[in-house]
Amino acid sequence: MYDDLFQKSKAVLAKNDRGGWTVPAGDLYPHQWLWDSCFISIGLRHYDVVRAQTELRSLLRGQWQNGMFPDIIFSDARRKGLDLDELLWDSSVNQHAPNHVDTSGVSQPPMLAEAVWRVGEKLDETARLEWFREMLPPIIKFHQWLYNERDPRGEGLITVIHPYESGLDDSPAWLDELEAQGAPRWINIGEKLGLGIIVNLIRRDTRHADSSQRMSNMEALSFFVALRRLRKQKYDSKLILANPYLAIQDLVFNCILIRANQRLAEIAKAIGEELPGGLAKQAKRHESAIEKLWDEEAGQYFSRSFSRKELIKEPSVATFMPLYAGCISPAHAKQLVNLLNDKMRYAPTWPIPSVPLDSPYFNDSRYWQGPTWINMNWLIIDGLERYGFKDEAKDLRDKTLRLVEQNGCSEYYNPLTGAPNGAKNFSWTAALSIDLLKS
Ligand code: GLC
Repeated sequence: MYDDLFQKSKAVLAKNDRGGWTVPAGDLYPHQWLWDSCFISIGLRHYDVVRAQTELRSLLRGQWQNGMFPDIIFSDARRKGLDLDELLWDSSVNQHAPNHVDTSGVSQPPMLAEAVWRVGEKLDETARLEWFREMLPPIIKFHQWLYNERDPRGEGLITVIHPYESGLDDSPAWLDELEAQGAPRWINIGEKLGLGIIVNLIRRDTRHADSSQRMSNMEALSFFVALRRLRKQKYDSKLILANPYLAIQDLVFNCILIRANQRLAEIAKAIGEELPGGLAKQAKRHESAIEKLWDEEAGQYFSRSFSRKELIKEPSVATFMPLYAGCISPAHAKQLVNLLNDKMRYAPTWPIPSVPLDSPYFNDSRYWQGPTWINMNWLIIDGLERYGFKDEAKDLRDKTLRLVEQNGCSEYYNPLTGAPNGAKNFSWTAALSIDLLKS
């Protein structure tokens, strides 16, 4: 069963292979992205573990001297054309950015420890220990940077400073925060005057995918404005968080870091080392701090606004991520699973919608505002298994594989019809399908 899916997925990864790393999708995403490469290595390890190691080693090229892993390492291809990335990012404004490659100035969910661990599972013992010894120091530095720079009030939670950094770019929580902070007036005026057509000429994504499936022009422009602001502040977290604009204690990011710390401790233990005391303490504290994101009345978790210091009560698929973190009570886990089974919200034909069906934001084909994403399903399947919800995990695994088999390796899917949306031949969809098939 699924033999065809395995071969097709391998073909997608081969097509997007650029030598030492894999692009998320040919034209639409022509660079190396941080969490994409982590997911990609988790698929590659099943048939070419050495290539999987190379995928992750390539990420080390972009690590900043202060420890940050940027979300994008630009390939030289960008020099050939005019795109907004090229105009906007200029990481050289920060003294810690590497000289030999161009990168963005923000990070992305820290999946690296998980990826290193899983790739290690496929190596023989000697190679595995060597691999862990090589990868442990850069990841420790990354996690330390996160705790030192992104939790200025010492709340035990990490603050994300741009929607791109969260990986779920136009998820409702960000749109609420944008509204609360007030989008620049000229953007609203521009929208009214219909200047969207001009914006569309500059945006790369709408040249390679249907614009009705992408974020709106108003959202895209607002995010670019937020990005320019970060560049002016030289991507200096302390400066940025002293005067925050779009900044949230993001649920997905925090849960992934919690799990990454657990993986890091396992990696360290395997080679007879211990994590630095400070980091071990911060990791422990982080696990209980996640309860600050629980809302008793709604019976679910939310992200929290850094400047307003309140929960952003916009439901989304992020609410299930504490299952993956593995640090919540069985009672809360059960409440989440009930929610997951709710047909009016999260259980359409092709789950899991990135925004529940009953949300005013729900749109069945628009980016992070409704469509089903395979990386979210993969993380949640893992979390369900961890909490012993074996039937739910199996059901979601089967539906996910059927979705991809029937509709190809798309970036995301319509949760009602299964129709493919966004980019075609999307790498993490291929890689994680392989992993769901093989493990
Ligand atoms: C989009 C996604 C982000 C992903 C990137 C490359 O920006 O929102 O999560 O990493 O594309 O695939």
